[in-house]
Amino acid sequence: MKVYLLGALLGPLFITQVSLAQIKVDQATLDKGKRLYLSNCIQCHNKDPNLKGSLGPELVDAPLEIVYAKVMTGVYPAKLPAGFVPKRSSKVMRKIPKLEKDIPAIHAWIQSVKKKK
Ligand code: HEC
Repeated sequence: MKVYLLGALLGPLFITQVSLAQIKVDQATLDKGKRLYLSNCIQCHNKDPNLKGSLGPELVDAPLEIVYAKVMTGVYPAKLPAGFVPKRSSKVMRKIPKLEKDIPAIHAWIQSVKKKK
């Protein structure tokens, strides 16, 4: 599977000015994303990102820039991408910036297990 995520499309209006590199989503990337998700996110989110967790919401509807903002800052960005509605108004999540370079892999794995509605 060759899918390229174009972080550059995030646009100049995005307040934290992220410039995510293009990543090639191969099986090794998905495996890494899954491993990092299971070790960093499931204290609060569900093991299955389609479902609500103990504290955090399901994650399959969050675009890459939202995953990036939540993991890097803990909060939603001031300017939300068109069509995205935050699942919660709480401010419980804490940032985990050490994961920065692997956020595209985590997002790619979440999308790879997304159930069609
Ligand atoms: C300490 C608990 C906790 C941990 C750990 C945590 N989160 Fe969260 N997350 C939350 C909560 C609670 C929310 C709801 C908004 C808020 O209160 O911050 C949330 C919201 C989100 C959202 C927004 C979802 C939406 O559609 O509105 C994303 C994306 C997200 N988390 C990704 C992650 C990822 C990826 C990890 C692991 C790298 C992670 N979170 C780790 C608690 C957590």
